[in-house]
Amino acid sequence: MAGCTGKDSSSPPESAKPATQARTYTVGMSQCNLGEPWRVQMNEDIRAAAAKHAEIKIIFKDAQNDTLKQRSHIEEFVSSKVDLIVISPKEAQPLTEPVARAIDAGIPVIVLDRRLLGDKYTCFIGGDNKKIGKEAGEWIVKALGGKGRVVELMGLMTSTPGQDRHSGFREGIAGSGIEIIFEADMKWLEPDARKEMESALSRFDHIDLVFAHNDPGAHGAFLAAKAAGRDNIKFVGIDALPQEGVAYVQQGILDATFQYPTGGAQAVDVALKILKGEPVPKEIVLGTRLFDKSNVAQGGQEIK
Ligand code: FRU
Repeated sequence: MAGCTGKDSSSPPESAKPATQARTYTVGMSQCNLGEPWRVQMNEDIRAAAAKHAEIKIIFKDAQNDTLKQRSHIEEFVSSKVDLIVISPKEAQPLTEPVARAIDAGIPVIVLDRRLLGDKYTCFIGGDNKKIGKEAGEWIVKALGGKGRVVELMGLMTSTPGQDRHSGFREGIAGSGIEIIFEADMKWLEPDARKEMESALSRFDHIDLVFAHNDPGAHGAFLAAKAAGRDNIKFVGIDALPQEGVAYVQQGILDATFQYPTGGAQAVDVALKILKGEPVPKEIVLGTRLFDKSNVAQGGQEIK
């Protein structure tokens, strides 16, 4: 039988064969918007991490804060048969089903920062928003000596970080003399936060502090207070990008901010593992740091 015992003369020797081409992978990344510096940073972090791996190519899409657009992104990625999807969803409920359909089609999905409903995805990567909210609450209780009148400007309440930062914050201030005199959903947006703060200022002569669920929100509130000539108010935010929240603390605009890592680099690591068939955890929780006047010059303080 030819080829059983010796060489098959019709096939070239191993050394003459061209080196097998390394497999390349296409990853579709759906970003809910690029209007906020934090999301621009997330895409940058993904781009920088992916640049170190020639085998991975990322297609970036921007949903411009439109949930329907983001749903179509996922459908397009499924029909073009990308190898893996990364999504940082605008809101939980409406994006759960398209992601579940991608999983049914055999495409792994990494969910970044904001969660979906249920557990039909491959891996979730993000900060612990409840913990950050609670830490912010505890910091505020201390900063105000246990009592005061506080405004809470919430992130989009159909997104999980808004819900979790809110419930964590309320836990953090529980039992103290802090009174929430005004709360509003500013949808993560600086102009909305500014408008809501204008209403709060016109209704209340005495406000001690504003807790906004992100730094753009805290900055919008600061601008409203400044324009109204109200200068005895403290401002606390979340995100702590070096060029945004941390710079605001350095400039005395914010009194504190808590870091919310983008998870971009981790998403690329996890994507590579999934694509190579290695196991990954269902959930990766990222840490945080506090930046306030006492520690900003030293690069903030890690929160355990
Ligand atoms: C950006 C952003 C951040 C915030 C995160 C929460 O869109 O609003 O400022 O920390 O989303 O998902």
